[in-house]
Amino acid sequence: MIYRPIVRDEEISFSKRKFIVSKTDIKGKIIFTNKNFSEISGYSEAELVGEPHNILRHPDMPRAVFFLVWKTLLAGNPISGVIKNLAKDGRYYWVIADLEAKKDANGNIIALTAFRRAAPQDVVDKVEELYTTMVSIEKKHNMEKSLAYLEAYLEENNVNYHEFMDGLIKPKGIISNLLSAFKRMLR
Ligand SMILES: Cc1cc2nc3c(=O)[nH]c(=O)nc-3n(C[C@H](O)[C@H](O)[C@H](O)COP(=O)(O)O)c2cc1C
Repeated sequence: MIYRPIVRDEEISFSKRKFIVSKTDIKGKIIFTNKNFSEISGYSEAELVGEPHNILRHPDMPRAVFFLVWKTLLAGNPISGVIKNLAKDGRYYWVIADLEAKKDANGNIIALTAFRRAAPQDVVDKVEELYTTMVSIEKKHNMEKSLAYLEAYLEENNVNYHEFMDGLIKPKGIISNLLSAFKRMLR
């Protein structure tokens, strides 16, 4: 059992070449984390394994984003997101996360994986205001209203969620090559 840290408005920045990797079961319970995960979040692998992944949940993140993440993953599809994470010491770090469902030979989902890299400031700037609005809608009303707000926002920009993310976070050059290599390693 891990206690929730007291949130501090202080950022942890880290190299854009440091990928943070984790793997969970289909309930979101952590079964593997890499060294960078521990280094950046402040939790040791022993503290993390067996815990639910919401251990990193930051109160500034809209519930609707995670709803979409789970809905997509459990349908067997990949999804990316820009996520503000909460470290053990209460500081935060922004990541771009690529999440994927791993399946067995029969197509059953056996695990879920996440590869994260540092989110550049311009990406954070593009989602922060949207997330703040969504969180306040969730506090005042409910998640359905926040999802509806997100949908209207996307519609106004003429994109669906995946296109919105692609436009925002597509990895470039060497980072893209490194990321593909890391993803292959966890297969
Ligand atoms: C593979 C995988 C990786 C995840 N990574 C994160 C993460 O880095 N940060 C986070 O807040 N939630 C992450 N989640 C989502 C959490 O499971 C959870 O839905 C989220 O923290 C919201 O918490 P709640 O569902 O208790 O509201 C991940 C889920 C999966 C399946």
